[in-house]
Amino acid sequence: MRIGILTGGGDCPGLNAVIRAVVRTADGRYRSSVVGFRDGWRGLLEDRKVPLSNDDRIDRILTRGGTILGTARVNPDKLKAGLDQIRQTLDDNGIDALIPIGGEGTLTAAGWLAESGVPVIGVPKTIDNDIDCTDVTFGFDTALSIATDAIDRLHTTAESHQRVMLVEVMGRHAGWIALHSGLATGAHLTLVPEVPFDVAEVCDMVKKRFQRGDSHFICVVAEGAAPTPESMTLREGGIDEFGHKRFTGVAQQLGAEIERRIGKEVRTTVLGHVQRGGTPTPYDRVLATRFGVHATDAVHRGDFGQMVALHGTSIELVALTDATRHLKTVPRERYDEAAAFFG
Ligand code: F6P
Repeated sequence: MRIGILTGGGDCPGLNAVIRAVVRTADGRYRSSVVGFRDGWRGLLEDRKVPLSNDDRIDRILTRGGTILGTARVNPDKLKAGLDQIRQTLDDNGIDALIPIGGEGTLTAAGWLAESGVPVIGVPKTIDNDIDCTDVTFGFDTALSIATDAIDRLHTTAESHQRVMLVEVMGRHAGWIALHSGLATGAHLTLVPEVPFDVAEVCDMVKKRFQRGDSHFICVVAEGAAPTPESMTLREGGIDEFGHKRFTGVAQQLGAEIERRIGKEVRTTVLGHVQRGGTPTPYDRVLATRFGVHATDAVHRGDFGQMVALHGTSIELVALTDATRHLKTVPRERYDEAAAFFG
């Protein structure tokens, strides 16, 4: 069998671990070969590929962040219009099955291909942890570790200067990184996209903390968090070419508003792409490796149109259509757990 593989969307620690696991399992268990397509779906649209062999080089990528195949975002309309071209490239290269590794956008496109009869097994990835039907995605644990380390450090400097510190973490529609890093570091407030915040309430919380004699205030803000419309206006950033809302820096704007309203010194840190770079944690290496092994097994069983998913401690298959119907956002009850530590 000849398997195609690609990594799409934003990169994420653990992608190389999946690639390695697919190549090693395909060759070692089935004597199948693997062809990598470069830069996500673009590699299939433009027939740009690289053979991947089960050698020492592939073995060493386990611990490397990023993706050796490169990745790219593609406009969903352009992708839809290019599905025939993608099928043609797969035929031209004698590809029997495709393993796209990606987030919501990549897996949705994988579903379109599967519907049109292309044998596909998806592998979910994203630091945002917002893919439905899997307990967790690899990349999340690494991003969480990086955010936690950074916030721990902010605590000590904030404490020394009696400051309010806002730290903006990634999370476009889902506040998982914010929720977990806030809980892990004992943040005094966490703001997530799922629950609009009231600026007056935030200011009140800050004021009360200092009135009580507490030394500092740490607030974790997901990049997609937003105020209630009546409490503050956020600058508009428009929509990018991939259909995503452009963020304008919610933490920075909230910080300025807190300073203006209560005259307290605020510092803001935006963690940004640091959260996505570098070597994956052991947890992510293991999960990504298991996903790669199970995706390769599924391909050889012919279980197509599905993606691998973590359920408890087992890796199982779920239909791509089910996994891409909704994003997995933070449920209200999970936010309420964290709220027990606010203030
Ligand atoms: O991959 C998910 C993600 O890291 C989001 O958390 C973030 O909003 C986005 O990607 C950033 O994308 P880009 O790398 O294109 O700036």
